[in-house]
Amino acid sequence: DMTLSRICCIGAGYVGGPTCTIIADKCPDVTVTVTDLSQDRINQWNSDNLPIYEPGLDEIVRRRRNKNLFFSTDVKKAVIEAELIFICVNTPTKNYGLGKGRAADLKYVEAAARMIAEVANQSKIVVEKSTVPVKAAESISNILKANQRLGVQYQVLSNPEFLAEGTAVNDLLNPDRVLIGGEQTKEGREAVESLCWIYSHWVPRENIITMNTWSSELSKLAANAFLAQRISSINAMSAICEMTGADVTEVAHAVGTDTRIGNKFLKASVGFGGSCFQKDVLNMVYLCECLNLPEVAAYWQQVININEYQKRRFANRIIESLFNTVTNKKLAVFGFSFKKDTGDTRESAAIYVCKYLTDEGANLRIYDPKVTDKKIFSELTNPLMCEDPERVKELVTTYPDPYEAANGTHALVICTEWDQFTTLDYSKIYQKMLKPAFIFDGRLILDHEALMKIGFQVVTIGKKLQRSNVHRSFSTSSQS
Ligand code: NAD
Ligand code: UDX
Repeated sequence: DMTLSRICCIGAGYVGGPTCTIIADKCPDVTVTVTDLSQDRINQWNSDNLPIYEPGLDEIVRRRRNKNLFFSTDVKKAVIEAELIFICVNTPTKNYGLGKGRAADLKYVEAAARMIAEVANQSKIVVEKSTVPVKAAESISNILKANQRLGVQYQVLSNPEFLAEGTAVNDLLNPDRVLIGGEQTKEGREAVESLCWIYSHWVPRENIITMNTWSSELSKLAANAFLAQRISSINAMSAICEMTGADVTEVAHAVGTDTRIGNKFLKASVGFGGSCFQKDVLNMVYLCECLNLPEVAAYWQQVININEYQKRRFANRIIESLFNTVTNKKLAVFGFSFKKDTGDTRESAAIYVCKYLTDEGANLRIYDPKVTDKKIFSELTNPLMCEDPERVKELVTTYPDPYEAANGTHALVICTEWDQFTTLDYSKIYQKMLKPAFIFDGRLILDHEALMKIGFQVVTIGKKLQRSNVHRSFSTSSQS
């Protein structure tokens, strides 16, 4: 029998919360318990104010909560009762010891595995949903088997998650594919079938791909590396465009109409952010180094290098355009999340742009529709990046309104592509700014011609705009 009646999830974050909510909604016959060690997070999942902002999620949580969807800090109880357990804990980049700055930190995954082994009194399917290095499932399996109680059997599956933040609900409802890796044994195949049974409540069978565990683990890292590589490729083109007369949007369009290449994920930007791309590419770089494949490691490392270059380059262009100094100048920053429609700031390009500008002594006035002040300050004063938190607090102010933020500033810097930034009244903003008034569009979302008509000096990614060039003659520093 491959049907299941009780499942649970360890980790109620950006992945565990939305994924299990959709499972509960699509499988009314299955009881789903989402657990976390953080009481705070679980309280929020049980309130009207969910811990993450994700369009469309609130409504589905409300419809299933306390029916067949439960949020709890009693991890052990949920594990004991569940036939299948998703591990959805965080796997951040290690910031200490061996592999520091590159390897994935698997301590939370290991703790989850040890806890399962400690309490389980009947057989379990353990599903690794967190993104992990290849062979992590084998480590989980070793830990479980070394601590196995009599009569308890474990099957470990790999089932990486491909949702993107801001579109998680739609991505979960209509996945391009669901990937399941398992052991190539009778028991392994049965476990795979059980997980297939869950997804087949709403995903067409032909979109559920099964394979061996290692292929599945590597496919997740590969998919994120390919996606990040596309962005670094178009961003590398944007640097060439700025130095020539080419326009990166036109280049992306021309390249993307080749059906072999495709038009998605070719938007030049201030650089990719988010909790996954950098972490997963670095994870693969580290894996390659451990496997003694230095050329492969260097190839993927360059995706990260170009992204760092892009963030730095954008900040440099701001400084250079503002007559080579931003010290004591007022700059409004629009957008702090790593992309639109999320309040998540992890690895957001805005953090780096703000850091480079405050390092130069700029006064920043930050507005974001979803990110809290607390989060903005904790990112900007993060000890891993910031040497002088008091100075940052002096230089940075947050605003609940974009017009207020722009008031009396020398320049406006767009860091996130929030839709609302395209519909602001830029004439009104222009009137309240110091002159010459600059706009730096790090997301290519504004109507640059219209802004120049208003009187703005416009600088953007991957395109030389006529008016802003005037000031480049004052520039002494070089672009590169
Ligand atoms: P997150 O930090 O939002 O959530 C992880 C949660 O796990 C936290 O709330 C933490 O308190 C909890 N946790 C840690 N150890 C625990 C334990 N032993 N018991 C119970 N709870 C524990 O992380 P996330 O963004 O949801 O990512 C989770 C995993 O999914 C990562 O491996 C990530 O790479 C992967 N992933 C993330 C995304 C994304 O868009 N965020 C997409 C695909 C895959
Ligand atoms: C990513 C993957 O898309 C997803 O499949 C995986 O499960 C988790 O990592 P996420 O980080 O949530 O998802 O968002 P994504 O839409 O991929 O954007 C990542 C970053 O790239 C953002 O900062 C975004 O602004 C940037 N980006 C994206 C670009 O700069 N240009 C593009 O064309 C696309």
